[in-house]
Amino acid sequence: MISIRQFSFLFSSSISHHIPVYKSVETEIVSVNLPSLTMRHIALLILLFFTVIISSCLAQVPVPLVDFQVAQPPPVPQGAQKCTIQLFQRAFGNSFGDPEVVEYTPPTSCGTPGSWAAVTLNFTVTSNGTQFDRLGIFTFQNVESNLMDFSVPVWRTSTPEPSAAGIIWTYVKDVTRFIPLFADSGRLILQLDNLLETGLNGIYSTTLEATFYASSASIPAALKSNLILPISAASDATNASADASVSPALSVELTLPTNAIGAYAELYASGNAQEEFWYTNVPNQFLDELPSGFAFGDGPFREVRLLIDGKVAGTAFPYPVVFTGGILPTAWRPITSYGALDLPTYVLDVTPFLPLLTDGKGHNFTLDVVSSEADGAINQNWFVSGLLQVVTAPTNSPTTGNMTVYMADNFPVSSSSASVRQNGDEIITVNASRKIHIESDVCSNNVCTKVVFDQSLEYSNVQSYLDDFNIENVLQISSGTVSSTHNGVVVLKDDFSFPFAVNITTINSTTFTTTFDHSYNRDLLPAPFILGSTIQERQIAGKWHEQVAAVLVTDSFSFLTGGFFTERSTGNTGNGTSNNTFSYKDTAGNTYSRTVAASLNVITLDRSSGSLAGEKMQPESPQAALQVKFAGARLPGGRTIGV
Ligand SMILES: *[C@@H]1O[C@H](CO)[C@@H](O)[C@H](O)[C@H]1NC(C)=O
Ligand SMILES: *[C@@H]1O[C@H](CO)[C@@H](O)[C@H](O)[C@H]1NC(C)=O
Ligand SMILES: *[C@@H]1O[C@H](CO)[C@@H](O)[C@H](O)[C@H]1NC(C)=O
Ligand SMILES: *[C@@H]1O[C@H](CO)[C@@H](O)[C@H](O)[C@H]1NC(C)=O
Ligand SMILES: *[C@@H]1O[C@H](CO)[C@@H](O)[C@H](O)[C@H]1NC(C)=O
Ligand SMILES: *[C@@H]1O[C@H](CO)[C@@H](O)[C@H](O)[C@H]1NC(C)=O
Ligand SMILES: *[C@@H]1O[C@H](CO)[C@@H](O)[C@H](O)[C@H]1NC(C)=O
Ligand SMILES: *[C@@H]1O[C@H](CO)[C@@H](O)[C@H](O)[C@H]1NC(C)=O
Ligand SMILES: *[C@@H]1O[C@H](CO)[C@@H](O)[C@H](O)[C@H]1NC(C)=O
Ligand SMILES: *[C@@H]1O[C@H](CO)[C@@H](O)[C@H](O)[C@H]1NC(C)=O
Repeated sequence: MISIRQFSFLFSSSISHHIPVYKSVETEIVSVNLPSLTMRHIALLILLFFTVIISSCLAQVPVPLVDFQVAQPPPVPQGAQKCTIQLFQRAFGNSFGDPEVVEYTPPTSCGTPGSWAAVTLNFTVTSNGTQFDRLGIFTFQNVESNLMDFSVPVWRTSTPEPSAAGIIWTYVKDVTRFIPLFADSGRLILQLDNLLETGLNGIYSTTLEATFYASSASIPAALKSNLILPISAASDATNASADASVSPALSVELTLPTNAIGAYAELYASGNAQEEFWYTNVPNQFLDELPSGFAFGDGPFREVRLLIDGKVAGTAFPYPVVFTGGILPTAWRPITSYGALDLPTYVLDVTPFLPLLTDGKGHNFTLDVVSSEADGAINQNWFVSGLLQVVTAPTNSPTTGNMTVYMADNFPVSSSSASVRQNGDEIITVNASRKIHIESDVCSNNVCTKVVFDQSLEYSNVQSYLDDFNIENVLQISSGTVSSTHNGVVVLKDDFSFPFAVNITTINSTTFTTTFDHSYNRDLLPAPFILGSTIQERQIAGKWHEQVAAVLVTDSFSFLTGGFFTERSTGNTGNGTSNNTFSYKDTAGNTYSRTVAASLNVITLDRSSGSLAGEKMQPESPQAALQVKFAGARLPGGRTIGV
């Protein structure tokens, strides 16, 4: 059993021990059958009447706040027959080492299992009280597989932190690319390690539904791989989680079909504990120049590597996911940080390795995370896992060929520097870059395909410590291109740019302010049989926009430029805003865009458009601005404020 599930409570000494008590008010929902237009009018009037009454009572009624992450609705076919099944309902209280395990059988009412046009998962969760954000890891285990430990990660999520009055969220995840798994009976597992203790009473009450969209004469079945192999730590023998804690590394032995002609890796990686705010970590050579206990070492650069038989096969410069308890919890309610409910994954084409892997023998697949320190060292810990989507040839004859070009260093190129100004301000810069180029001839039945895999990644991080370390500003940009061609045709592509800026200002011993400005810009084709998409998302959080500020900022807060957070023995409070501009388009022609802003729990602007915009994904929250209490803020370097 992996015991490093300390996702959130390293700093639990700073949490509130005061749980406010809300008076419970009973409400009734009445469903009415409307026989005629006249009756409908009367009913509407009655409804209106009650709406007025209810809204005037809102201040007292604890209506759950609707939390959400900005994302496109899954691009499912319009007009397809749908079958929805509930996979489980489960309340996660003290759930460490106690995952939900569901024996799954594919439904047959929406066509032959596996012939579907799309599959989605709907994860709906409510929670009341005070609780930290927790990681949620969905994995799928094929029981018919001949592999002992066949646990494929299909979704990594996290939980928004609840409030006393309660929160609810729904995330609908497109899992169409996992149809090869859902087509067979198996085991679906959700590991959500929650902990109840003094000051932390929030239980996560969850429901998971799966919806299958039937294919038909006019709606084609989804394209899919022939086999999905796990790169995961899961083990029936030890009940280990699918996600391995690194460092040092996760290594698994995989045996590929001898007629494999395509293999596409998808990797999951997120920093935890001393690595949660990895982008604020300081190079070891400059750590002494900061106040002690202010920052963690090992520098801010991280690279997720996939090695096959000890050779680097491809890498990723990860997107910095901020969880809802991260730095300024008030910025992430009700709109979570981008990626918190659906952590981004990273894709690589490992087809060039097939000539080395189709010998019917086991091969060593390794996942690790390295820094730009001399030895690549990181702190504890990252959670990593992954999978391979494998395409096999229609023939049984073994795949042959040769790797003709291999250019990949073990580690990226990096440099770092620090400068101290006369006034004591300290500026630390870390840059890194990575180039990989691999070519192979991959041959099946004497027909060879020229496969070219190429990565060119860039990274820079500037940390500014100003005003006697009361101000910490971090500006990080990672960007790059990943591309793979088979006989000149692009089959995998990842053009990305992840600018990330966070400014943290300490006001006094109990209060700080923060602003975030981060973007997720990505043109992604994970494999030739998976829908490609282009996403542009910018999230500005914590910042007081002038319009909002004019209305809300009173004299006592007028000095604040960012959202703020105060920790006190009577409970932690604060303010935050979030402004999101999101656009999506995909290779099937679907489009979606949404601009949504929030301030103090209230949605101040919400506009969406595009072909996927139809149904409103998140109902508007009826809750007015409340003095809400939060679990403690987790800060870079393990710092704490307040009580
Ligand atoms: C998701 O599931 C919840 C609870 O099971 C349900 O109320 C909701 O309507 C579903 N949403 C969608 C978009 O399917
Ligand atoms: C939240 O509180 C409401 C009202 O007090 C209760 O009905 C609901 O079951 C609670 N939900 C959870 C997840 O505890
Ligand atoms: C693994 O979990 C199952 C189900 O909870 C349990 O029956 C079994 O004893 C566990 N195995 C180990 C080795 O802990
Ligand atoms: C697998 O590869 C990793 C990385 O090169 C290495 O550390 C590990 O010892 C290898 N495992 C086996 C079983 O060869
Ligand atoms: C791979 O390279 C070797 C040595 O150059 C050559 O003998 C062999 O024919 C090549 N195989 C294929 C399938 O191209
Ligand atoms: C990092 O890259 C920037 C932009 O190319 C450059 O100005 C700076 O000197 C580099 N810093 C280091 C430490 O390499
Ligand atoms: C954040 O920090 C950067 C770098 O020091 C600075 O240029 C920018 O003005 C700051 N932004 C805010 C909102 O304070
Ligand atoms: C810290 O600043 C906040 C905001 O001005 C104020 O409410 C609080 O009383 C201050 N606390 C201390 C200990 O000075
Ligand atoms: C959101 O941010 C954009 C700039 O990215 C700005 O133009 C707009 O006014 C902001 N909207 C709100 C409601 O704060
Ligand atoms: C947020 O700021 C507004 C304006 O200063 C203030 O009225 C409100 O009480 C603050 N909310 C919290 C939770 O402190």
